[in-house]
Amino acid sequence: MAYEVAVLTGLQWGDEGKGKIVDALSNGMDATVRYQGGPNAGHTVVVGNVKTVLHHLPTGILHSGVVCVIGNGVVLDPQSLLEEIRMLEQSGIEVGARLRISRAAHVILPWHRELDQLNEAAKGDSFIGTTGRGIGPTYSHKYARTGLRFGQLAETATLRERLQTQLAEVNRLLTRVHQIEPLQEDLIEQVLEQAELLRPFSCDTFTLLHNMMRAGKNILLEGAQGALLDIDHGTYPYVTSSNPTSGGACVGAGLPPGVVGRVIGVLKAYNTRVGEGPFPTEFSDVDFARNFQEQAGEYGATTGRLRRCGWFDGPLARFACRLNGTTELALTKLDVLDDMAEIQFCSSYRQEDTLYDCFPPSELAGDHRPEPVYETLPGWQSSTRAARTFSELPDAARRYVARIEEICETPVKLLSVGPGREELIRR
Ligand code: IMP
Repeated sequence: MAYEVAVLTGLQWGDEGKGKIVDALSNGMDATVRYQGGPNAGHTVVVGNVKTVLHHLPTGILHSGVVCVIGNGVVLDPQSLLEEIRMLEQSGIEVGARLRISRAAHVILPWHRELDQLNEAAKGDSFIGTTGRGIGPTYSHKYARTGLRFGQLAETATLRERLQTQLAEVNRLLTRVHQIEPLQEDLIEQVLEQAELLRPFSCDTFTLLHNMMRAGKNILLEGAQGALLDIDHGTYPYVTSSNPTSGGACVGAGLPPGVVGRVIGVLKAYNTRVGEGPFPTEFSDVDFARNFQEQAGEYGATTGRLRRCGWFDGPLARFACRLNGTTELALTKLDVLDDMAEIQFCSSYRQEDTLYDCFPPSELAGDHRPEPVYETLPGWQSSTRAARTFSELPDAARRYVARIEEICETPVKLLSVGPGREELIRR
């Protein structure tokens, strides 16, 4: 039976514009699945004048009839998920009948946010710059095997006791290590109320997705964050606590690697990063960087923080493509470079007289930091926003795209030239 399982994943430090690309691909899909991360993500889709930012829900929710799955690899915050569902239903998007949440997904509890902030403060100058959404502490409980799974929200007889046990453990940490007041038990009442509302979405998503595949349905696995924030392969410790890469997609959705036929990597035409950590091609000129941020609208969709900006990083992009087994690329925000007379393109790193055109980000933390080596490419200095075919792009823009394809060893199949749904080139 013909079916397609595709993974869509970010190849940089998140914020590549994945929301818009998943939205463009969702039409042919029967199900979209979030497989890792949680409300640290903010996937933005602009339809007409309406901008929607999704934190938990797969972007397929904006397409009627698409089944939306929150997979076992996700950590979810009941309160913020309920707000997201309410926000969509108020704008006329039907969520209830299409949302399925894996019983093995983990629950972010109110104290996880508190712990996230305390952990950051305890790190002093080496803070990570997390989104403060409780992601790290929730995954810590998951891997310590003391977390709360979504399915356990339905076990009314034992839920209160489980929450009390975890709160008591957290309170020991707060009072003894952080030396602050313990949290009150009324937080538990909130969770019990939220559990009531979310219970109907609980699902054995393994069986659901495998049955869909057997029935010839198409499934899109939607990544959050990006390869350079991957807990194993990213710029550790300045990373998130999950695996956004395609290997993580299989684990986090419960599908075997052999069924994945397409891996779509999303790249921005330049690089950005929110939070701390190495960023070799970051703009060094403060005024230039500030103008660029403003003009490109580089503010975080979840935290509103300004994003750090820099030139396209080829060696890291090549690494991310190889790591993910990327079969095609979606390149976003090409239009942001429209006014530039010249564009710097980092094609390799130099480290102790050796040049590298592929570089693992985990090596950036070491003592011998590499220097980026740039090629200067001509800009096109004209608007690309009206282009709807590749041939309508200026020559210099096509050459820029070709250079990215060359370093990534992967063809660009989708090109975004503006925030709107229609500002897209398909090849
Ligand atoms: P956490 O995922 O909130 O623990 O944050 C860890 C690091 O990942 C921080 O540098 C965050 O800024 C970054 N991060 C987490 N989620 C996103 C995202 O969706 N886009 C961009 N950066 C993110």
